[in-house]
Amino acid sequence: MSVVRSVILGCGSYLPENVLTNEELARRVETSDEWIRTRTGIHQRHIAADDENTSDLALAAARAALDDAGVDARDIDLIVLATSTPDYTFPASAVSVQAALGITHGAAFDLQAVCSGFVFALATADNFLRCAGFKRALVIGAETFSRILDWKDRATCVLFGDGAGAVVVEAQRQGGGISDRGVLQTLLRSDGRYQDKLYVDGGPSATRTTGVLRMEGREVFRHAVVNIADAMDQVLAQAGVKAEQVDWFVPHQANRRILDGTARKFGISSDKVVITVDRHANTSAASIPLALCEAKSDGRIKQGDLVLLEAMGGGFTWGAALVRW
Ligand code: UT7
Repeated sequence: MSVVRSVILGCGSYLPENVLTNEELARRVETSDEWIRTRTGIHQRHIAADDENTSDLALAAARAALDDAGVDARDIDLIVLATSTPDYTFPASAVSVQAALGITHGAAFDLQAVCSGFVFALATADNFLRCAGFKRALVIGAETFSRILDWKDRATCVLFGDGAGAVVVEAQRQGGGISDRGVLQTLLRSDGRYQDKLYVDGGPSATRTTGVLRMEGREVFRHAVVNIADAMDQVLAQAGVKAEQVDWFVPHQANRRILDGTARKFGISSDKVVITVDRHANTSAASIPLALCEAKSDGRIKQGDLVLLEAMGGGFTWGAALVRW
């Protein structure tokens, strides 16, 4: 049986040049390299330059992804950009990327699901490609969280970084089995009862300001462990796949302890887990495509590999996706 599948053709990423180490942060707020490393696994993060906006990061990642896929920008008819830190309230940063790439057809929009943004964007693009007649999509996660941090709050400012990652996804006729290429299964969840556990305390309608990130870290941690495992369980079961069949586990990079704990729980060996949190910190919607890109470009992820993605973020939102690369 042949079906339409969303196949990932290539990926690209961009990290701002400026690196902020834990030691430098420890000179600004009361923290230490030792605390940050042992509680989170983070050693450093990249910070966007003053004149670099989210769409600039997204554009650089998109260009790299098009290059990697060998696809001309004019052949893209859909851009879904996951971000919680758009350049402006509107227009969407996705249309800035679209214009910079010289694309004047198709559709481009932003999607806001915080740290789960890339999984939500991939699932959205997958549905548009399979069911709405679009042919080729750029799915981007791009963030400048450094702009919404309270740099005096040691509980949050040490955790995040800036960056962008993108994938090119194409609608292709494939066999309908789990060994055939493409997005095999996605699972998206949200539960707004927990919106006050991780949020930004400003916005255009409520406060007419941008606001800064606020988080009850321990509570988010507790829910993340449960929700991520639940999403992974469901996505694997719905696809009829066992955790041991997964070649690469590419989780959202929030905290090394969560990644290690989740991999252990599912019996996924540590050499199959793609880790970037040490160098990138938590880049929200950008963390999964950044990690995907790293593992693809260093030769770990190869065509035909089974890749499991998961994320959890503000809202709460969470989800997982299973992809045959
Ligand atoms: O991407 C979206 C999803 N986000 C997450 O998944 C994040 C989930 N949460 C976490 O990763 C962890 O909860 C944190 C890394 C945020 C915090 O780790 P924790 O082990 O849960 O620490 P805690 O919040 O319970 O704080 C322990 C102590 C506190 O001191 P007391 O009250 O025990 O005296 C904090 O004040 O550590 C203190 N602390 C710090 N100390 C040094 C908090 N931040 C810092 C810091 N440096 N930067």
